[in-house]
Amino acid sequence: MTRSLSKKARDILLLNDHGGYTVPAAELYPYQWNWDSAFVALGFAVFNHDRAWQELETLFSGQWDDGFLPHIIFHVDDSGYFPGAAVWGTNKTPQTSGITQPPVAASVTRWLLNTNEKIGKARAAALYPKLLAWHRWFHTYRDPLKNGLVLCVHPWESGRDNSPEWDAPAARVDTSSVEPYRRRDLALVDQGMRPSNQEYDQYIALLQHGRSQNWNHAAIADTGPFRVFDVGMSMILLRANRDLLALADRFGTSEECEELQARIKLSEDNIHYLWSDAIGAYGSRDAKTGNHFEMVTSASFLAFYAGVGGDRERAALMANFERIDGMVRYMMPSFDPAHPKFDPIRYWCGPIWAVVNKMIALGLIEMGHTKAGQRIVRDTCSIIEQSGFRESYSPVTGEGTGGSDFSWTAAIWLHLSENRSATSPGVAVPHKLEPE
Ligand code: GLC
Repeated sequence: MTRSLSKKARDILLLNDHGGYTVPAAELYPYQWNWDSAFVALGFAVFNHDRAWQELETLFSGQWDDGFLPHIIFHVDDSGYFPGAAVWGTNKTPQTSGITQPPVAASVTRWLLNTNEKIGKARAAALYPKLLAWHRWFHTYRDPLKNGLVLCVHPWESGRDNSPEWDAPAARVDTSSVEPYRRRDLALVDQGMRPSNQEYDQYIALLQHGRSQNWNHAAIADTGPFRVFDVGMSMILLRANRDLLALADRFGTSEECEELQARIKLSEDNIHYLWSDAIGAYGSRDAKTGNHFEMVTSASFLAFYAGVGGDRERAALMANFERIDGMVRYMMPSFDPAHPKFDPIRYWCGPIWAVVNKMIALGLIEMGHTKAGQRIVRDTCSIIEQSGFRESYSPVTGEGTGGSDFSWTAAIWLHLSENRSATSPGVAVPHKLEPE
C-alpha cells in the first residue's frame, strides 16, 4: 500500500510540474503558490534533490527588490483563472500577486541542506541572502508593535483563508465596489467545501484596496481594512528565523547572526500577547481593535513548532489537544470542533490539512510530546490511505474535501513515509519524525 501510494504521490508531483515549478492542483490552482512550493520541495527531495532546490529557486524568481515574496507567481497566463495577474496589477516580471504567505522556505532550505549536503551547499548559500531579505521584509513592514509578532493584511496571506478567526475583521471590509466576477473554484469543487461568496467579495475588495495603494506595503499595513496578528504566521516566522539563524551561521556574517538572535528573542519575549487564558491557547488578535479572537485553531498548536510557551502554556495546549481528540476521529482539525462555526468539510473551518499536521507533529515530537506527534503522523497517513491525495480531509470521517491530486498532500506523504522508515539516525535531520 505504502509503495503504490508513494508511486502515485510522485506521479502527482510530476503531473503538476510545469517545468521548474509545481502547481498546487491542475485547474483549481494553475500557478506557483508560495508555501505550497516550499512543502512540495520536501516531497521532491525524496527522489530528486536537484528538483527540490529548483522549486525554491523558481519561487524566489518572483521576489521583489525590497525582499517581499509574493503568494502567487504567475509564470504563464491562464485566462480562466480569477483573480489573475491582470487583476492584481503589480506590474512585476514575472507577474505576481501583491500579498505574501507563511514563510516556511527557510525551514525547508535548512532541511534540504541537512539531508544532502553535497547537492545542497551551493544552492543553500545562494538562497540564504534572499531568505534573509524576505524575513527582513516581515520585520520592517509587518511588525507594527515592534514586538516580533506579525500582521496579515489579507486572509489569503495567512494560508488559512476562511478561518472563522477572520470573520469579525473581514466583516468590516466594504465590498460595495466589487464588480461581478466568476469563480472558477465553484465549477470544480462542491460549494459546501469552499469559502462563501460573501467571503470571496471581501477577498476581492481587499485585493482592490492593495492595488489602489500601488501595493505600497507600508501604507497597506498602516491603514488597510483588514489587519490581524496571525498566530500561524507569527509561529511559522519564529521557527523560520531559528532555521535561518542556522543558515546564517554557515553562510552569513556575525552581524546577521546577531540580528536574527535579537529577532528570535523579541518574538519569544512577546509571544504571550497571543495567549488567551479564556481558551487556554495561543490565537490570533485583531490589530485594529486589539481584541483576541479567542478561537482555538490548528495554528494554535504550532507553538511547539515555534518552540515557545512555558510549562503552564504547554499543559493547557495539551489539554486542548486531548479535548479535541475526544471529539473527532482524526487529528488535527483546522478549527475547534466545539465551536458553533466548526464545519468538518468547509476549507479552514474544520478540515485537516496535511501540511499543518506535518508542522504540528514535528513540533510536538521535538518538544517531547512524542506520542501526540506520532498520533498526528499516523492520522495524516491514514486519511491519505483512506481518501487519496486530496486538498484536505474531514476530521470526523476522513473523507477527502476540496481538490484532488493535490501537490502538497502528495509531498507530505512522501516526506512522512520516507522519514517514518528512516534507519539512519546519524543523519542530522531537523524535520525527521520518529518511526512508529
Ligand atoms: C488555498 C489555501 C492556501 C494554499 C492555496 C493553494 O488558498 O487556503 O493555503 O496555499 O489554496 O493550494
